[in-house]
Amino acid sequence: MQSPRLMLAYSALSISILYLLYNWASRSSGTWLSSHRPPDFSRYVSLDSLSVEQFPLDDVDKRVVIVGDIHGMFDEFQSLLAKVSYNPVSDTLISVGDIVAKGPHAGSMSVLDFMAAHNITAVRGNHDQKVIEWRTWLEWIHTLPGGSDWLVHVQERWDKAQEHGADDVEEWVEEQVRHDKKHSKWWKRIPEGWQLFGDHYRIAEEMTHEQYLYMVRRPVRLHVPHAHTFIVHAGVLASDPNYKPGNKRQPLSHIPTLYEPYADQERTSILRRLQELAILKEVPQNLIPWVTLNMRGVLDDNTVTRKKDGTPWAELYKKDMKRCAGFESKDLKKKKKGSLPCHPATVVYGHAASRGLDINRWTFGLDSGCVYNRRMTALVLGAKVARDSSDTIEDEFDGEAVDIDGNIISSRPKFGDKGHGRIYSVSC
Ligand SMILES: *[C@@H]1O[C@H](CO)[C@@H](O)[C@H](O)[C@H]1NC(C)=O
Repeated sequence: MQSPRLMLAYSALSISILYLLYNWASRSSGTWLSSHRPPDFSRYVSLDSLSVEQFPLDDVDKRVVIVGDIHGMFDEFQSLLAKVSYNPVSDTLISVGDIVAKGPHAGSMSVLDFMAAHNITAVRGNHDQKVIEWRTWLEWIHTLPGGSDWLVHVQERWDKAQEHGADDVEEWVEEQVRHDKKHSKWWKRIPEGWQLFGDHYRIAEEMTHEQYLYMVRRPVRLHVPHAHTFIVHAGVLASDPNYKPGNKRQPLSHIPTLYEPYADQERTSILRRLQELAILKEVPQNLIPWVTLNMRGVLDDNTVTRKKDGTPWAELYKKDMKRCAGFESKDLKKKKKGSLPCHPATVVYGHAASRGLDINRWTFGLDSGCVYNRRMTALVLGAKVARDSSDTIEDEFDGEAVDIDGNIISSRPKFGDKGHGRIYSVSC
């Protein structure tokens, strides 16, 4: 008769062995599975922030140059840099996204080359996003056994189809999906709505690994705490349109909680930073990358749209900022009803070429439609701007800053709490 103790030891041993076997099996099948399961193509970087060195506003020897949508218009981009006398040593260049696509393909590659080689600060645009997604997809397909061969085969077939007069790749792909049963599992790996062999695909395919890494590192949103500024491609909402502005779930409806005492000056700047972060992290729409990359307006049912109908988000944003009466209760009492305990923050963005240059007190829409043969625009900021132009303010209305209707916009708009920017543009 075996002792109960020995029995116990045996069972413990067999359980351990079974456990190890199970682990080994599931781990190896796990790697097998994961190589066939698609990775996350979007590769979002949700938020990044810029330091005082990366966004120097108070240094009289430095400037910040923020450029609207470039879309591969390389020559115009270079003319714009020449026009602002861009100097990489003393100027920080920033892009509001959509550096590639829509324009000439060779231009997209040149812009990407320039931006990546100089590690230019930029947020992601919706077109940049498509290029990132295609490249991530391509890298995945190449890791699958037979993937590279299939891609070569498809490219050859498409080339041949074009020789025979095919010119609509979408139509052609649809036909393949329907009839090329032999490769149906491959065709199914192209996500719904993606356009094979389009310009995004070609840019994705041609860019170097370093350029891909540069693109992947672009954040969807940039926060510049000391300048109380957000940089995004399409837009930001300061409040959730589903609730009243004063509702307590809205970040601007209450002063953020501080757990330690601070001196007045420092306290205000910390509270502002916290409230700005709350806008980015607590207004639910701002957490959806698609919204930040595509939003144009908000519809009557409070949903965000990328179409041109609906209320432009910048108008809603303006209304929210108008309510901001500072953090002190005496400021709030002085202001009219509806005031909120907040300080305004600025948004610099692109994307809305259809609205053209769109400059308001707290929102700077810089896409003036270069790719549609209109203009490419830069907003130039910093203490150096004020110094350089302090004696020539009067004659600055040279008609450079025109909106989509041809109206002249001040070429020296207010920026942030107390600064001014300068608007430059070139024709395309
Ligand atoms: C690019 O700049 C960022 C931020 O300034 C920095 O963190 C990163 O290391 C740089 N990348 C390269 C490849 O130099």
